[in-house]
Amino acid sequence: MKKIKNKKKIKKGAKINRKNILTFPKDFWWGAAYASHQVEGNNTNNNWWRWEQQGGSEDSSGRACDSWNLFRRDHDLVEELGLKSFRLSLEWSRIEPSEGKFDKESIEHYRTVLRDLKKRGVKTTVTLWHWTLPLWLVDKYGGWHNKKSIKFFVRYCKKVVEELGEEIDLFLILNEPNIPLNKGYLNAEHPPGKRNPWLFWQATKNMIQAYKDCYDITKKINPDLPVGFTQHASEFVTPHQFWGAQWLIKKIESFSNWHFYFKIEGKFDFVGINYYTGHELQLKKPFRKPRSESIIFSDMGWGFSPRGIYEVIMDAKERFPQKPIYILENGAADAEDKIREEYIRGHLKWIHQAIEDGADVRGYFHWSLLDNFEWQAGFWPRFGLCEMDYQTMERKPRKSFYYYQKVIRENKIEV
Ligand code: BGC
Repeated sequence: MKKIKNKKKIKKGAKINRKNILTFPKDFWWGAAYASHQVEGNNTNNNWWRWEQQGGSEDSSGRACDSWNLFRRDHDLVEELGLKSFRLSLEWSRIEPSEGKFDKESIEHYRTVLRDLKKRGVKTTVTLWHWTLPLWLVDKYGGWHNKKSIKFFVRYCKKVVEELGEEIDLFLILNEPNIPLNKGYLNAEHPPGKRNPWLFWQATKNMIQAYKDCYDITKKINPDLPVGFTQHASEFVTPHQFWGAQWLIKKIESFSNWHFYFKIEGKFDFVGINYYTGHELQLKKPFRKPRSESIIFSDMGWGFSPRGIYEVIMDAKERFPQKPIYILENGAADAEDKIREEYIRGHLKWIHQAIEDGADVRGYFHWSLLDNFEWQAGFWPRFGLCEMDYQTMERKPRKSFYYYQKVIRENKIEV
């Protein structure tokens, strides 16, 4: 009798294990991401550099991770992880250091970077604009609030697609337009450091127009290249059950997550989503507070709300039913690597659920491959799968790096 009981136990255990293994689609793009100004170092010719010198950030980006020179070391890590795609951004101020003058060497540099990834069998996901503007543009024209920014940005885009389009597998024209617009024009945390709703409105309008023109011109030059952008999206909830509060929270969510998508009139080949955390609206408390059910917090105080990624994906699926979805950023500042593994697993579990429920999610990109320059916060937040030693420039894989490597190798998670 006893024996049989034991047998049963083992069987039951195995069944539970099988049940809890979540396998991802065969060609799922496992990725990681970083952005030019946050890693390259010495991007002295852009508005962020100046902002840092003026005290807008806790540190100056300085040499950052020196990835301009050490990109092959980064690619070694990309390979070691087994990434299917790597996301990086191009630095406008290097490609067009003065008005209308494109720098051949910088273009060649990016060609080398992209080809090096391709040689290693890694697909390239490239962001054209990750928040930095060349100084000539801001000095002479102010920035996005000037209508002329549209034509300059489109010219930059055209040059990039003509020169580098062949090397790109997935093209993001903008990273999270809502963040630099809000922070640059409403709460003065990013350059140009304004609190001016009128300029905010102008800049938003111009960015939308620039995006649409870039989409058209890119498709004209390279019709097969998938083109879109990536949006900072969150789940918004409120504990207040009365109708008005529920209505308002849905409006806020829809505006914050999808306004830009509504405005670009179908000019995107996929839905790009960056998801970090959820937000809760309570009448008597500050608005952007973490959701109250969060029990794990990153070093930046962002709550762990993995279920929210499911809500955001399903919302995208409903709104844009024909479009594939890519999660292009997701990660946590976690210097001691205490929560990163759980963070990855938790979000992947809900992404998997969304796929089960019919969402066409094609890829997941972790933010970030390396610790890097975290904008106004400087260097203290540590988002990397690899720890950076900013003195020696050593990149040291954390434990979670090996967890993610295993997930990629097996194409599945265990929950
Ligand atoms: C941005 C990244 C940033 C990350 C963490 C995203 O909104 O695209 O540049 O480092 O969030 O704050």
